[in-house]
Amino acid sequence: MIDLRALREKPTLVGDRVRLVPLAVEHTDAYYASARDAEIRRLTGTHHISGYEEVRQWCASRQDQPDRLDLAIIEQPSGRFVGELSLADVDLDNESAAYRIALSAIEFTGQGLGREATRLVLEYAFDQLLLHRVWLNVYAFNMRAIAVYRSCGFSVEGRLRDALLWAGRRHDALVMAVLANDFRKAIGK
Ligand SMILES: CC(C)(COP(=O)(O)OP(=O)(O)OC[C@H]1O[C@@H](n2cnc3c(N)ncnc32)[C@H](O)[C@@H]1OP(=O)(O)O)[C@@H](O)C(=O)NCCC(=O)NCCS
Repeated sequence: MIDLRALREKPTLVGDRVRLVPLAVEHTDAYYASARDAEIRRLTGTHHISGYEEVRQWCASRQDQPDRLDLAIIEQPSGRFVGELSLADVDLDNESAAYRIALSAIEFTGQGLGREATRLVLEYAFDQLLLHRVWLNVYAFNMRAIAVYRSCGFSVEGRLRDALLWAGRRHDALVMAVLANDFRKAIGK
C-alpha cells in the first residue's frame, strides 16, 4: 500500500555527489535556462518552450502537490542546481508511478550525477513510498539514459514506434520499467 503521507512530505535525499531537495521557486532561473537548452530539449523530446512565468509558477507549486514528487538535483559540494526529476502519475491501486529526469545542461552529464540521483529516488520510491513499479519512456537514440536506467534495474517492456517527430525525423520511444525486486537486485541489496 502506497504511503501517501510520505508522498505529501517532500524529502531531501542525500548521496555522495548529489543532494535531492524539493523543487521550489528559488530554482526558477536555473530551471528556466535548462528548459531552453537545445540538446536537452532534443533528448527529452520537449517541443514546448516554457516562458519564465510558467516556469516560476511550476517551481513554486511543486511542494503543494499531494500526488507527485518533484526534486531539484543539487551537485555537492558546489551547491549548483544541475537538474530535476519527478515521480508522477502515481497509481495508488496498482502501486506504480512514472519517472523522469533531466540534467539541465550537457556539461553536467556523463559524470555519474544522473545515476546517483536515479538510485536515490528509486530507493525512496520503493522503501519509503512502498511503490512496486516505476516506469518511463525514453527515446531509443538516448543511449546514455538507457545505460543508466538499465544499471538501476529497468528493462525494456515495449517500443512506441515513431513516437517523436524532431527536426523532420521520426524516432521510436522505449517503455522501460523497474519493479522493487529488480532494483534491489541491481544495487545488490
Ligand atoms: C540521462 C541522464 C539522467 C543520465 O545521467 P548522467 O549523469 O549523464 O549519466 P551517468 O554519468 O551517471 O552514466 C552514463 C552512462 O551512460 C553510458 N553511456 C554514455 N553514452 C553512451 C552511449 N552512447 N552508449 C551506451 N552507453 C553510454 C556511460 O558509459 C555511463 O555508464 P557507465 O558509468 O556504466 O560507464 C542525463 O544524461 C540527462 O539528464 N541527460 C539529458 C536529458 C535526458 O536525456 N533525460 C532522460 C530522458 S528519458
